[in-house]
Amino acid sequence: MHSKPAKETTSVKVILEWAKEKLLGVQIESPILEARLLLGFALGIPQERFYGSEDKVLTKSQADNYTKIIERRCKREPVSRIIGTRGFWNLTLKINLSSLDPRPDSEILVDSILRNFPDKAANLKFIDFGTGTGCLLLSALNEFPNSSGVGVDISKECITLAKENAALNGLSQRALFIESDWGREVTDKFDVIIANPPYIQSGTISTLDPEVKDFDPHIALNGGQDGLSCYRKLAPQFVETLKKGGLVFLEIGYNQRESVSKIMEHSGLKCLYVNQDLGNRDRCLILAHRHQY
Ligand SMILES: C[S@@+](CC[C@H](N)C(=O)[O-])C[C@H]1O[C@@H](n2cnc3c(N)ncnc32)[C@H](O)[C@@H]1O
Repeated sequence: MHSKPAKETTSVKVILEWAKEKLLGVQIESPILEARLLLGFALGIPQERFYGSEDKVLTKSQADNYTKIIERRCKREPVSRIIGTRGFWNLTLKINLSSLDPRPDSEILVDSILRNFPDKAANLKFIDFGTGTGCLLLSALNEFPNSSGVGVDISKECITLAKENAALNGLSQRALFIESDWGREVTDKFDVIIANPPYIQSGTISTLDPEVKDFDPHIALNGGQDGLSCYRKLAPQFVETLKKGGLVFLEIGYNQRESVSKIMEHSGLKCLYVNQDLGNRDRCLILAHRHQY
């Protein structure tokens, strides 16, 4: 039962029921919601439109297309990757296989910047180390209309994607994206440093959910044997590129507060606060030059 939905006469109701069962079978947590979202994507209409249209009959090609999409999700490809976009802060961003799928938990970095720089009219210079889709830098620039920034990434494909996302959100004039091994190509100093480096221990990547280990690029996840290797490389670069009076907003793994603070303090930074993510776990360190405090 439920293995072949794509008949000439498949209705919205029948195909949604089929999809729900398929998704349940691979332990997807919200099968009904995802079945509806993906049908909306397949048909090019918002999923709310299905209410009251459950008897609408799909064409064979619509049903075939949806079947393929559900099969992708059953292989645990994330919905955002199937759809090709992700909502982050108040932007819609394209994602692809070269980029991390931005996480809602990372939004705490943007929130923390806003709390520490309440004047949105300020003219700040931002840098985002490991920009990926550009999500953090672009969200910040969208909040500070007189500011500009640089996003760096070692992945050429990410740089192309981040530029595309800047253009999609009308931010190209204020966002520069550079292919660089961390700060190697960076000479300026900045008021605000943002970074969400890879911080998963190499040995635990294979134990992560398939949505992560099979679809996020490992270069975006792999923080070396103890998960801290990128923090060690970045710490002296933060000191070098942070303006006097500036702040660093650094994402960490939920259990890395002490270890990362130590690395940063060893390089001459001071951890001022730690902010928590949506699940109340430590997620964002806020750092400044130690000699200022
Ligand atoms: C955890 S992802 C964060 C992406 C994005 N900032 C976000 O929050 O969704 C880390 C990013 O760092 C980049 N990266 C890894 N090693 C790097 C290096 N040596 N220099 C610059 N970027 C690097 C990866 O390509 C990836 O885009």
